[in-house]
Amino acid sequence: MKREVIAICPGSFDPVTNAHLDIIERGRKLFDKVIVSVLVNLEKEPLFTVKERMAMLTDVTNQWDNVEVDQFEGLLVNHAASRNVCAILRGIRAVSDFDYEFQMALMNRRLGDVETIFLVPAEAYTYLSSSLVKEVVALGGSVEGLVPAEVERLLRRKLESL
Ligand code: PNS
Repeated sequence: MKREVIAICPGSFDPVTNAHLDIIERGRKLFDKVIVSVLVNLEKEPLFTVKERMAMLTDVTNQWDNVEVDQFEGLLVNHAASRNVCAILRGIRAVSDFDYEFQMALMNRRLGDVETIFLVPAEAYTYLSSSLVKEVVALGGSVEGLVPAEVERLLRRKLESL
């Protein structure tokens, strides 16, 4: 039987943006399956809980039958090995992403002998980040076209409740 070629797309996804979705969609065309894995980060204080972030991701990726959403704690390489993935999938938006991504890719290869595949999102998303989206919404601006409509709605609701 042919082995499934699976990639893992890890991140904070606080919240998922159209740049993330762009990378996931490109990845799912290259791999048999993409596992979108939400980091349970015990130090950082995210805006959305892991459960909320996973629910949003599941909602916006359920149109794709070869995309799965899960979560992980601890080292990514350990989770990647437990899910039998053959590559880590990350997006590079601009040169400014490169140093950090390069370091992580080399560290992950050293720790877990796993390769990292980088994809580039559509040009329209090169400046897009979850942090900027949160800041714009908190200050009353529109993020239409930058996140799915439902994510924008949840973001407004969450920020209003703080
Ligand atoms: O969306 P982000 O915050 O840029 O994603 C960063 C992420 C989750 C990919 C990275 O912080 C990570 O893999 N953390 C898990 C802990 C780990 O394995 N650290 C060593 C990585 S070199």
